[in-house]
Amino acid sequence: MDGNGRWAAAKGLPRLEGHRRGAERLIETIDSCIDLGVTTLTVFAFSAENWKRPLEEVSGLFKLGEWILRAHLARLEKRNVRLRVIGDITALPEFVRGPLEDVMESSKGNSAFTLVVALNYGARQEIVAAAQAIAADVAAGKLTPAAVDWSVVEARLQTAGMPDPDLIIRTSGEFRLSNFLLLQSAYAEIVFASVFWPDFDKAQLQLALAEFAKRERRFGQTGAQLQPTSTK
Ligand code: IPE
Ligand code: MG
Repeated sequence: MDGNGRWAAAKGLPRLEGHRRGAERLIETIDSCIDLGVTTLTVFAFSAENWKRPLEEVSGLFKLGEWILRAHLARLEKRNVRLRVIGDITALPEFVRGPLEDVMESSKGNSAFTLVVALNYGARQEIVAAAQAIAADVAAGKLTPAAVDWSVVEARLQTAGMPDPDLIIRTSGEFRLSNFLLLQSAYAEIVFASVFWPDFDKAQLQLALAEFAKRERRFGQTGAQLQPTSTK
C-alpha cells in the first residue's frame, strides 16, 4: 500500500493524513475484493524496515491501525472476514497487539474472505526464522537434511497454510518487491499501478485484475503444454 506520504504531500497535507486515507482505502478495498470474487488479500502495512521512520510517524501508524480496526470491526464481522497477521507482532505496542490478537481469535471461523496484514514483516527475516526452525529440528534429530524439501520450508514460513499470491499489486509507480513475500511470489503475476495507494479505488483494482486475466501463467511449462482454459 505505497504512496500515502506522496499523496499527502501533493495535497499539502501531513503524511499521517495520507496514512489515514490509505487506511480507509484498505477498508473499501476489502469490500471491492469481496464483490469481485477475490478470497484472500495480503497487505503490506508495516515493514520490518519501517521502524527507521520518525518516531512520530511510526506511533501515528500504530494508533491509526488500532483505530481502523475498532472503527470497522462490525463491518468486517458482518462480511465474514477472517483476520490473520504475518510478521513479528511481539515487537508492536500492546495497545495495538492486544486488539489484533483478539480479532484474530474471534474471526477464526469467518470464511468468506481472509485479510492478511503484514506487520513488522520482512521476507528475509521470515526466511531466516524458517531456516533456524529447520536447523533446530535437524539438531534435535526430528528431521534429516535430506528430508528438507519445499514443503518442509513452506510449512515454516509465516504464510503456512495460506495460498501463494496469484497477483501482487504495487502502487505509487515503484517497481520493487521491497522484501515482500519473496518466496511465495515465485510464480505471482506482478502489476504496477502508477496511482498512490489512497487513490487506488475499485476501478483501479478492476484494471489490475483485467491485466492479470490477460497474462498467460505457465509455471515453467511451454505454452503448448498448457491446457486450454476454455474449450467452448
Ligand atoms: C504507505 O506509504 C506505506 C506505509 C508504511 C504505511 P508511504 O508512507 O510509503 O508513502 P510514500 O512512499 O512516502 O509516498
Ligand atoms: Mg513508500
